[in-house]
Amino acid sequence: MKRKDLLSAQDLSLEDLQHYLDLAGRIEAIPPVDRRGLLPGKILATLFYEPSTRTRLSFDSAMHRLGGSVLGFSGHEATSVSKGETIRDTVRTVENYADIIVIRHPREGSARIAAEAARVPVINAGDGANQHPTQTLLDLYTILKFLGRLSDLRIALVGDLKYSRTVHSLFRALHLFGNVEFVLVSPPSLALPDYLKSPDHRFYETHELEGALGTCDIVYMTRIQRERFPDAVDYEKVKDAYRLEASMLEGARPGCRVLHPLPRVNEIAPDVDSTPHSGYFEQVAYGVTVRQAILLHHLGVWA
Ligand code: CP
Repeated sequence: MKRKDLLSAQDLSLEDLQHYLDLAGRIEAIPPVDRRGLLPGKILATLFYEPSTRTRLSFDSAMHRLGGSVLGFSGHEATSVSKGETIRDTVRTVENYADIIVIRHPREGSARIAAEAARVPVINAGDGANQHPTQTLLDLYTILKFLGRLSDLRIALVGDLKYSRTVHSLFRALHLFGNVEFVLVSPPSLALPDYLKSPDHRFYETHELEGALGTCDIVYMTRIQRERFPDAVDYEKVKDAYRLEASMLEGARPGCRVLHPLPRVNEIAPDVDSTPHSGYFEQVAYGVTVRQAILLHHLGVWA
């Protein structure tokens, strides 16, 4: 696999996905103290035009723990972006200060624009409702760690399947591993877009969450994203469509795990956290591991 940028899970073959997962396993096997020497002197720039907690901070943490350093912005009010500077010009400036750029932007396609302008590698940390490939890789890695496999499984994708970039990426990537059945749980107005469904995807669509819980290995919850709705009235109609509570998991498969890219609002009740099914905070932890693998690979330290 030889690729300067990581822009979309759609660009990744099964072999590519497997390679990133192998690299994540390789970094996890190295004691944290020995990882510090892997990227000394390297600089990561994080350009976050849209809010983030996990993606930005886990990239920061990943880089610091590999011995590198980080610069960048979170919210562009204090930068020349607020004066009208384009993504292209921002990236052509920042590439002089850093060895690799991680960018999040509300507009779809913005990471690709950045990558075309930049000489250094660009990693897409989320572009609108389009793609969030590093989240997909950490979702896959988390499922692999919990189940020991990425094929022969049944997964419920729940909530905002229309705008959720993490769902869009995961639906396609997981399918590549084979024999995966998807239960798509959403209100009708937030159904998975048809263009994502290929004839060989195995899935069924429902509005009912409870009926799906007893049959799945993974329940992947998502937030109904207020910021993606063109009309606030439409958001109000569906914002409380699903709420998973501990009692609803009593009939779940023993190894079933609940995942969520986070942040959650009210779609997972706090009482789920203490059940053996909760997996979303382990998922957060794997984010650092996977992003270390991504940094090492795209900086050319690990092939
Ligand atoms: N999962 C995720 O992208 O979280 P943040 O928005 O906090 O980065």
